[in-house]
Amino acid sequence: MAIATTVKPKFYELFSTAQVREIFQFLQHDRIIPFKFFYQGDLIKSWQALNEEQAKAPISSAKVDDNFLRRICIKLLQSEATCDRWNIVDIGAANPQLVKRFVGSFLENNRLNAYLALDISPDILEMSQQDLTTWFPALNWQGIQWDFEQTPLPNAVAVQRQNETQTVENMYLYTGDTFCNVIDRLAVLQNVAAGMQPQEYLYITFGVEFKVSTRQDMDIKTHISKSASLELLDWLDINLNDADILGYFDEEWGGYKTDILIKADYDITFRIQDKTEIISLKQGEQINIYRFFAYTIEPDNSAPQIFADFQQAGLEILSYRIEPILSRVMLVCRLLPASQ
Ligand SMILES: C[S@@+](CC[C@H](N)C(=O)[O-])C[C@H]1O[C@@H](n2cnc3c(N)ncnc32)[C@H](O)[C@@H]1O
Repeated sequence: MAIATTVKPKFYELFSTAQVREIFQFLQHDRIIPFKFFYQGDLIKSWQALNEEQAKAPISSAKVDDNFLRRICIKLLQSEATCDRWNIVDIGAANPQLVKRFVGSFLENNRLNAYLALDISPDILEMSQQDLTTWFPALNWQGIQWDFEQTPLPNAVAVQRQNETQTVENMYLYTGDTFCNVIDRLAVLQNVAAGMQPQEYLYITFGVEFKVSTRQDMDIKTHISKSASLELLDWLDINLNDADILGYFDEEWGGYKTDILIKADYDITFRIQDKTEIISLKQGEQINIYRFFAYTIEPDNSAPQIFADFQQAGLEILSYRIEPILSRVMLVCRLLPASQ
């Protein structure tokens, strides 16, 4: 007989009814929980710890991104600008530490209109506000809850360009690998591009992979997806002895994944508004909770797939840099002239 469990109350405290329904449907139909749902509640502490670890390490992907932001800052503050001030639009704003110096430089130079934190998670928005307004009491901090996998850039971002006395443009930061974690990368780029103006830039970074003949499985021992898996098992009240957490490379999809292998039959009861619904998980089934699409860098350092995807989304890559040791790309993009 299947083990019967009920989703714990703390799960409902974290998610809206629409999100509960979305999670239920993903789990029911695809055996997936998108990673975008793992930036709330107790997991915030894991993200904060990761930010601190990256900031303290002598070499880290966050350090590469920090360097990239520093170069953007020099370029924008020293060159002739097309506007009086900018709005920094931080897409996925989970690392206030990373943008601290960047925001501070624009403020010091009187070139910042507002800092806009865009994120699906209210807990991340709260953390961003807390940190940035403590460091910079004069900062015009604006938080906007948005799911970039579902809808175009919200109008609240466009509204922030309005200023009675000065011209204001948006610059979009989308750093930290998140772009490769989504299910539909093209849709995400299109959602971002939908809110951009022709003279505005998107600055994006993510990890890539140099062409290799054999791939190693993903090591999840210290990876954040392990904490996320444990959190999910707790929400669903699945016994830890009845699950294994698996990291692997999915050849067919072209990236790394973390799945939870269920080792016993479970009937899990969800409450969706006033109704109860049951998901039956069978022994041997896997739930995917993390994915990282691995763009390949060719031996001549080109990345045709990155260029093709961005072009398809209506974005032109103006600058393409690779950090070879940590396998990371940094892109500067704007709208393709044809889509303006
Ligand atoms: C790995 S963190 C990146 C943080 C930071 N930008 C950096 O460079 O380290 C990803 C952030 O994106 C947010 N996020 C993930 N999926 C999202 C979605 N579909 N819509 C909006 N925000 C999302 C998360 O809540 C989290 O704050």
